[in-house]
Amino acid sequence: MIACPSVRQSDIRGHYNLTTPFYRLLWGVHIHHGLWEGNESSRAAQQNLTETLIREAAIERGARVLDVGCGMGGSSIHLAKNLGCEVTGVTISPVQRWWATQRARWNRVGSRAKFRCTDAEKLEVPAESLDVVWCIECSEHLFDKPRFFEKAAAWLKPGGRIALCAWLAGDDLQSEAKVKDVYDVCEGFFCPSLGSTDDYCGWMRDAGLTVERVHDWTSRVDRTWELCRDRVQKTHMRWLARAIDANTVMFLDRFDTILRAYRTGAMKYGCFVARKPD
Ligand SMILES: C[S@@+](CC[C@H](N)C(=O)[O-])C[C@H]1O[C@@H](n2cnc3c(N)ncnc32)[C@H](O)[C@@H]1O
Repeated sequence: MIACPSVRQSDIRGHYNLTTPFYRLLWGVHIHHGLWEGNESSRAAQQNLTETLIREAAIERGARVLDVGCGMGGSSIHLAKNLGCEVTGVTISPVQRWWATQRARWNRVGSRAKFRCTDAEKLEVPAESLDVVWCIECSEHLFDKPRFFEKAAAWLKPGGRIALCAWLAGDDLQSEAKVKDVYDVCEGFFCPSLGSTDDYCGWMRDAGLTVERVHDWTSRVDRTWELCRDRVQKTHMRWLARAIDANTVMFLDRFDTILRAYRTGAMKYGCFVARKPD
């Protein structure tokens, strides 16, 4: 695991409060990578990542789902609308909670997709009450990842699953340059740490879960950052960011770092499904 101790939760919250409208304009309703099969659009690729994770985790109609780090509610609303799931989404950002709630109402699933603004690491959920803990690209922001998996395992019913996608530290970080790139990504994208594939599998196993699926999707998602870099350049977003704050400038300046990190193996993008034994 590579850690960046300077990241504070107030920076994470501030980042999402400030940038959520820009994510919506420049990327879409999902704040996660696209998963490409061919030359489809970025919107289709983002949707494909959500739908592929649903299939990987075999999520059933009507499942009770906790969407950890729900962003603008992209996944929660999809699950409620298309699978009739009962979803609670949690986000650290009050702006996102408001946004997700309005979107759920607009999509007529306000009674099945509810949103809370709270810290997932302090969340209390009744034991054995969930079928699925869904977590796309939020665990990177958590400070005590092993403890999160322990708590999530307790929330799941026997047979329930964790479905998770995460940015990962690479497996072989021998060179200083690779370690620096991972550190710079942590700092620029406000991640207190990035775990490796082995770290994640270890944390889930230590929490009593059976790891059923592990996929390396790096080469299918890395195009995300070429597109984001191009869109930021075309819209002169960096110029606007300079008028906002230094953190947002640093965030935009690290798009090339994450692209390089994926291409050198300093970082990976992983999909995990783990089951609580019956
Ligand atoms: C990269 S976005 C992913 C959003 C969403 N999962 C998606 O795929 O569109 C990360 C999300 O994690 C949330 N987050 C970060 N730290 C959190 C915490 N401690 N508790 C709850 N949510 C958190 C952010 O507010 C944001 O919604």
